[in-house]
Amino acid sequence: MPLVNAKEMLTKAKAGHYAVGQFNINNLEWTKAILLTAEELKSPVILGVSEGAGKYMCGYKTVVGMVNGMLEELGITVPVALHLDHGSYEGAKKCIEAGFSSIMFDGSHYPIEENFEKTKELVGICNKLGLSIEAEVGSIGGEEDGVVGMGECADPEECKMIADLGVTMLAAGIGNIHGVYPENWPGLSFETLDAIQAKTGDMPLVLHGGTGIPDDMIMKAISLGVSKINVNTECQLVFAEATRAYIEAGKDKQGKGFDPRKLLAPGTEAIKAKVKEKMEIFGSVGKA
Ligand code: 13P
Repeated sequence: MPLVNAKEMLTKAKAGHYAVGQFNINNLEWTKAILLTAEELKSPVILGVSEGAGKYMCGYKTVVGMVNGMLEELGITVPVALHLDHGSYEGAKKCIEAGFSSIMFDGSHYPIEENFEKTKELVGICNKLGLSIEAEVGSIGGEEDGVVGMGECADPEECKMIADLGVTMLAAGIGNIHGVYPENWPGLSFETLDAIQAKTGDMPLVLHGGTGIPDDMIMKAISLGVSKINVNTECQLVFAEATRAYIEAGKDKQGKGFDPRKLLAPGTEAIKAKVKEKMEIFGSVGKA
């Protein structure tokens, strides 16, 4: 199946009280692992690409070529959206041109009026081309491609203002943080989430910083309208750990252990297991 935008999968997720996982990709191995797992579990999936990862993979056109090639050659039948993660205004336009099926414009660091105007323009472009668009209100904490946020709670009125522009999904800060959560993290603000959902109705809400949020909080967030959950750091951690274990066990020195296909195989398997675990928690298994 060719790439799809994320609208239908997220509308179904919101109505069915489950969430679709956005798993960030960084290279060929990750992409293949995520696609094969989604296919095996018959789950819809969103492949997230940060601007930094896009640059690393030689630019957005290379990413589109790789993903489209895999959809065909791996015979993927489940719905897959290719989504720019935390895009700048310029990055969003480049991804639209390159053939992404979905973009995120993160205008959360602008004053709300500027976020509103830029989001509005991009909504117009995406609607015309049939792409889905995610907007953000209230910056998400932690570090993402060098941008550090403080884990704010978004203003529900501002969320409504941006949602009413006709975005497909809305990321709103509810105390979530990218990367590993500090020990003294107070947890998600369900009060804020509840207030945002009350103002935005059917709008699928997005939870960034999916790494390390306890399962019970994930389930509660889904029950309060979260329909898309982003995971990146947890995949990075298991990939690094599995690769390190392979090398530390001296397996790269046995037979053809230095072959990059063998060297990266344990990490790739670890990503598959992590994606499976997350899809089961999010409830998207069998929902393709
Ligand atoms: P984590 O790296 O914390 O999993 O967050 C990923 C994310 O939100 C990408 O936008």
